Parts: sequence; structure tokens; C-alpha cells
Amino acid sequence: KGDPRLQRIYQAINVVPHFPKNGIMFQDITTLLLDHNAFKDTVDIFVDRYRDMHISVVAGIEARGFLFGPSVALGIGAKFVPLRKPHKLPGEVFSEKYSLEYGTDCLELHVGAIQPGERAIVIDDLVATGGTLSAGIRLLECAGAEVVECACVIGVPEVKGRCTLIGKPLYVLVEPR
Ligand code: PRP
Repeated sequence: KGDPRLQRIYQAINVVPHFPKNGIMFQDITTLLLDHNAFKDTVDIFVDRYRDMHISVVAGIEARGFLFGPSVALGIGAKFVPLRKPHKLPGEVFSEKYSLEYGTDCLELHVGAIQPGERAIVIDDLVATGGTLSAGIRLLECAGAEVVECACVIGVPEVKGRCTLIGKPLYVLVEPR
């Protein structure tokens, strides 16, 4: 891609070898948040992409989807809906389990946060296997939303190249270093 902002975003992400465990190259987006221009560019790219797509819901995945989703929601005039880890939301919830490397995890969405037929995007910081975002898609579909696309700052080439997650388009800004 020829957008010079993508190179700045890429360089603002700090890569930490062997964190949180041996062999993992951790993509630390806290340094992106410290860089006002790179952070703003990240939000602007998403806002420019989604502002005229009649999106009324930006769903962010706990925890790091919460760092980007609300800014994008405000920028496009949509509501922000948190998809949370289990037992955090006080009301009635839809739940979706998903597989991790070891075991399973779960995301929850408040019943009533989204009306059937609403057009939604799902945002997270990073897509690796795609399991987390796919659970997010399924969760929004439980509420009757139409998932238009998933958006991520960082995506591994294997998933980025596929360009879809369980049939939904995937939009990724940069690959991990
Ligand atoms: C990371 C990341 C994504 C997910 C991507 O979250 O922020 O949500 O993993 O992995 P996947 O594509 O293989 O599903 P993590 O599980 O570390 O949770 P956290 O953000 O709450 O720390």
C-alpha cells in the first residue's frame, strides 16, 4: 500500500521479543498511543474508510479493541459497544466461546445494546488466528446485526492475506515486524 501513514504506524509499534513468554514477538501498541500523529493517523484511516458506509455500531474487543474503537465510533457518528470478557457486564448477555492455543475463552455482549438489522464493524488491535474476531462476528450476529467488516491495526500475513474471517471482510493496516 502506498499510504505513507502506514509506515509511520508500523514504526510506532514496539516489538518485544519473548513476551509474555518465550518465542512470542509481542506487538506493543502502547508506543503507538504515545505518538500523537501515528495514533491520529490510525483513527483517521478507519474513520475515512467507514464514515460513508452507514455503520451505526462500532464493536470493540476487550481489552485493546477498547483503545481504538471509541475514537472511530465518535469519528463516524456511531455508538460504541464493548465486547467483554466473561462476568464483566451486569445485564443479560449473549455469549460466544472461542478457542485459544490452550483452552477456550468467551466474549459477551449486552442484550439490547444492538437492534436487529444495525450495520456494525468489529475492531481489535491485532488479529493472529482470527479466533477472537470471529467470536465477535458471531456475537453481533446473535443480536441480529449485519457485520460489514472487521478492522485491525496489526494482522499476521496468513490471516491478512485471506482477507476474510468466517465470510466477513477483514481490513488490516500493517503486518507484525
Ligand atoms: C490478543 C489481541 C486480540 C487477540 C488476537 O488479545 O488483542 O484480541 O489476542 O488473537 P487471535 O486472532 O488468535 O484470536 P489477548 O487474548 O491477549 O487479550 P487482552 O487484549 O485482553 O490482553
